[in-house]
Amino acid sequence: MTFKFAANLDDLNPDEPYATTIESEQIALYLVDGEVYATHNVCTHQFALLSDGYLEDGCIECPLHQGRFDVKTGAALCAPASAPVKIYKVQVEDGAVMVEL
Ligand code: FES
Repeated sequence: MTFKFAANLDDLNPDEPYATTIESEQIALYLVDGEVYATHNVCTHQFALLSDGYLEDGCIECPLHQGRFDVKTGAALCAPASAPVKIYKVQVEDGAVMVEL
């Protein structure tokens, strides 16, 4: 497991998900209260990109059926999402957002 470059911190906006792909892994980044969090970008219910969803109060709402996940823990917060989404460790170094894969 090593940390890989995911994005420049300057490219992230508060409460606006950011999609990226690292080694064919689809990842969504979130800037919440000055901290960066990362989840897998595909909803665990059906196929939808969480980065196309609505981020509020540290939760991402899936754009397809409005399942919600806590971006810090990956926990599914409401139906129809029930399985947690994978989360990744994040480090910010010199303005670079690094994600552990
Ligand atoms: S695909 Fe995300 S809640 Fe259904």
